[in-house]
Amino acid sequence: MKKYRVGVIGGTGMVGQRFVSLMENHPWFDLKVIAASPRSAGKSYADAVGTRWALENPMPEAYKSIIVKDAEADAEAIAAEVDFVFSAVDMKKDEIKALEEKYAKLECPVVSNNSAHRWTPDVPMVVPEINAEHIKVIDAQRKRLGTKRGFIAVKSNCSLQSYIPALHPLRDFGIEKVLVCTYQAISGAGKTFDTWPEMLDNVIPYIGGEEEKSEREPMKLWGKVENGVIVNADSPSITAQCIRVPASNGHMAAVFASFRKKPETEEILKLWKSFRGRAQELNLPTAPKQFLHYFEEENRPQTRLDRNLENGMAVSIGRLRPDTQYDYKFVCLSHNTLRGAAGGAVLLAELLCAENYI
Ligand SMILES: NC(=O)c1ccc[n+]([C@@H]2O[C@H](COP(=O)([O-])OP(=O)(O)OC[C@H]3O[C@@H](n4cnc5c(N)ncnc54)[C@H](OP(=O)(O)O)[C@@H]3O)[C@@H](O)[C@H]2O)c1
Repeated sequence: MKKYRVGVIGGTGMVGQRFVSLMENHPWFDLKVIAASPRSAGKSYADAVGTRWALENPMPEAYKSIIVKDAEADAEAIAAEVDFVFSAVDMKKDEIKALEEKYAKLECPVVSNNSAHRWTPDVPMVVPEINAEHIKVIDAQRKRLGTKRGFIAVKSNCSLQSYIPALHPLRDFGIEKVLVCTYQAISGAGKTFDTWPEMLDNVIPYIGGEEEKSEREPMKLWGKVENGVIVNADSPSITAQCIRVPASNGHMAAVFASFRKKPETEEILKLWKSFRGRAQELNLPTAPKQFLHYFEEENRPQTRLDRNLENGMAVSIGRLRPDTQYDYKFVCLSHNTLRGAAGGAVLLAELLCAENYI
């Protein structure tokens, strides 16, 4: 099979490193270009990253000598060299919007990890197991941009990647209200314990912008495609508190939910166990075989033990039980830089290839 040629914009950063590492041995994708800021441009990938390599596995040998390009200044050359790019840059929101549109208009599809375009109505924000059908809005987006191939597709925020997958199969019971507290790892801020020693033995009860994203983004995921845009859902009501905890990777969520028609515990467990999304139907290379794993043990899921389940692409759930104020409460966990960031975007790119959008 001919492989798709891929570029990673922001390849030197925390999420970018994950993208680069996920390209090693990928059956469909071949990493051709790494780009970052002018600070890194012109250096070998190994030199540009230097001591910032933050993953447990070493930097892939084959990519160490790739000369990093300037994401902005070299955009035309990059767009000509690849079939699509992943984007994970840390810049101002309007700069990211402009940069991603520039690539799309150069007929280079962009699969983005950034939040800049999440609320653009004709940009699909996709978790392939939840709303794969939203990629249809790309046709309208291409018309607006005046492109044949180019478009932007994004993934949602990392914090909701644990609890929205668990709630999704229960929507037929009419989810009325949800209260969620997330316990989020430091890699979500692009940090390690070396670069953020203040997080050792510490908990910080604030993550800028995260609570709003956790409450609002599910409405777009659960929205409908109408006349070339996504019309957001208007329920359930979600309230969130997001807290930074001293874990390297893995976002946990404690969830409370009430339903219009309260399901039995056994019904919930059965729906979680049998749930399959479009990613599983298409047997995409990065898709977990079992998306939702339920743990019977009272002390699971645990961040360190369970975040890497199915290569960090599965969602772990545990402690389902009735609550005194809501119908049920339970705990969820997902890997924030794999399923919640680069892995989720790679799965989205696979979906876009399988459905002939790339
Ligand atoms: N960390 C997570 O778990 C996570 C999860 C979801 C979403 N995100 C989002 O993903 C994006 C990247 O996050 P991160 O944690 O990987 O950040 P990061 O580690 O700070 O990396 C930022 C990347 O952006 C590049 N960059 C900065 N300014 C640039 C410019 N002017 N032109 C081109 N490239 C530029 C950097 O290049 P240099 O190395 O050359 O400076 C680097 O490659 C952010 O928008 C973040 O909000 C992160």
